This record gives sequence, C-alpha cells and structure tokens, in this order.
Amino acid sequence: MRGIGIFAFGGPEVLQVVELPETHAAAGEVRIRVQASTVNPTDTYLRKGARAEALRTVPPPHVPGMDVAGVIDEIGAGATTNLAIGDAVMAMVVNHASHGGYRESIVLPADAVVRAPAGKSMVEAATLPMNGLTARQSLDQLALKPGQTLAVTGAAGCYGGYVVQLAKADGLRVIADASPADMALVRALGADVVVPRGDDIAAQIRKVAPGGVDGLADGSFQSGAAVGAVRDGGSFASVRGWAGFDRGITFHKTSVRDYNHRADLLERLRQQVEAGRITLRVAATLPAEQAAEAHRRIEAKGVRGRLVLVWTHS
Ligand SMILES: NC(=O)c1ccc[n+]([C@@H]2O[C@H](COP(=O)([O-])OP(=O)(O)OC[C@H]3O[C@@H](n4cnc5c(N)ncnc54)[C@H](OP(=O)(O)O)[C@@H]3O)[C@@H](O)[C@H]2O)c1
Repeated sequence: MRGIGIFAFGGPEVLQVVELPETHAAAGEVRIRVQASTVNPTDTYLRKGARAEALRTVPPPHVPGMDVAGVIDEIGAGATTNLAIGDAVMAMVVNHASHGGYRESIVLPADAVVRAPAGKSMVEAATLPMNGLTARQSLDQLALKPGQTLAVTGAAGCYGGYVVQLAKADGLRVIADASPADMALVRALGADVVVPRGDDIAAQIRKVAPGGVDGLADGSFQSGAAVGAVRDGGSFASVRGWAGFDRGITFHKTSVRDYNHRADLLERLRQQVEAGRITLRVAATLPAEQAAEAHRRIEAKGVRGRLVLVWTHS
C-alpha cells in the first residue's frame, strides 16, 4: 500500500512515495480507502523536523497529513457507528509516525469519522475536518456570547475563514483582516468589518473597536502584535501555543488533537456545510505523487483554500 513519507527531515524533496504495510480495522475502528488528503502548514513543519524529538525512537518513514476523505471499506468488530461499508466519509487524522493522512488506506477510530457533506466532492470534503475542528475549538475556548465582538487574523486562510463563518453562525460580530486582494473574499465569508492586515493589526482593529474586542482568534500567528486589539479582561486564542501576560486577558492554546474522537462536532460541521453556513475552499488538486510540489506551493505563501492530494486506486 502506498503512502507519501519521509526518511529524513528537510526540504520538499524529501517527500517520496513509500510502501507501507496493509492495515486492518480492529475493534472500534473503520478503514478508509482514501481518495483525497489535504496539505496543511503543519505538514511542512513536520517535514522540516518540528516533531523530531517526538519521533526520535520511531522508525521512518514518517507520513504527514491531518485530514482525509474517502470510502469505508472495513468496519472493525464492536464499532458503535452508523457508518456502513461504501459510505463516503471524512475525518481528521491525529498523525504519528507512519499513521498520517498521506496514504491510500487508513484505519481510524470510528468515533472520529463522519459522512462527507451531501453534494460535495471528496476533495472538498477533505478540507473540512482538521481546520473546521480547530476553528470550533478556538471559539469554544473563547466562549463569547452572541452579540460580542471577535477579531480574526489570517482570515483569508483556511482556519481563519472557518472561524469567521462559525463565529457568524454563533451570532458574533466579526472584525477580520485581509490584504487588498483578499478583502472581497473575507467579506464574502461574512465578516462584518474587514481591516487591512499588517504589523499594525492591533491599531487597525482598535480603529473600528476603540474599546478593544472581546476575543481574538490569531490565525496569522501575530501574537504580541495582535493582542493589543483585545479589551482588558478579554480572551485570546493562539493556534501555536503563544501566551502573554496582559491586562487580565485569558490566553488559550488551541490544539486540535484534543478534538480527536469528536465525531459529534464534525457531524455538526457537516450539517453547517450542507446548510450553506460553511464554505469549502479548494485551491488546487495534485496527484498524491506530487506532494513535494504541493509543499513548495504552500511554503511560497499566498495559497487561498487548501491544496489537496488525490489518490488513484488501481
Ligand atoms: N494548533 C492547532 O491545532 C492548529 C490547527 C490548525 C492550524 N494551525 C495553525 O494555524 C495557522 C493557520 O493555518 P491555516 O491552515 O489557516 O493557514 P493558511 O491557510 O496559510 O492561512 C494563514 C493566513 O494568515 C496569513 N498570514 C500569515 N502571516 C501573516 C502576517 N504576518 N500578517 C498577516 N497575515 C498573515 C496568510 O497569508 P499569506 O498566505 O499571504 O502568508 C494566510 O492568509 C498555521 O500556523 C497552522 O499551523 C494550528
């Protein structure tokens, strides 16, 4: 069975087609014949060695990838699931060692897998689980009430875009950043106010919310440059573990791995896609064998929507 993995950390060129042992669904698990695997920024960090310490004692190849869509082809004994063989599904992959999303077949806990949204392609469906759950987790951590104001940085990105849309569905007022080229996109996602992105983001947000915002989801990872936008006693969600000590602000570290086994939340996201509340954005598809090219593109910045690797099964 094929996957895309690495034997050494490095540039995009270290990604290669690897042969992996066939795996089968055990009790409580399902197996998915993968059709689409997304390429996320975190995959590039893994490739460069960000998790080298955690992988030190694990033999390569290491397989990146945190979400997949495909068709169920095995259900393990005792899986309490309403899924059936042949169902089109999507899931987040909490990757470790060779257990990553860049593989043509993957075994996952049944309670991490849900049906793909009706009317959406496998490629589109694959773009939802990991970033949709991350956006949900940040909003759950910030715990704002309807009518309160949320600021979102990196709003044109996958995480930021989902935060904007889910926040609007939660009844929040949303101030989001964008480059001139992304203004229309971010407005179309539903932001109430769009401000110019940049190093002065806190000042830009304060121009439209002089008392500061109630919460901020920091998709651009601007951290200290963004926190000034938050009112005293507000809240701040970092996607990469940053925390400050500021004016009574509560700092949250969003880590989507904590939302593994949350088919209930993923199911709700699926319903929101079907209701037109969430937009699935695909930047481009590439054959899985061209994963290195996908990594080059994502590292070049400016990709809007997700790059998706497509598997061809013989
Ligand atoms: N902790 C978790 O569990 C978790 C889960 C998912 C994602 N993440 C992290 O969340 C972040 C966003 O992920 P994503 O998939 O949404 O990435 P993405 O699609 O690349 O979006 C990031 C957005 O932020 C913009 N940006 C980057 N640096 C900026 C800056 N200095 N000022 C203003 N805008 C800037 C990017 O613009 P350009 O393309 O023009 O640079 C892009 O629009 C990544 O760091 C990712 O690793 C963490």
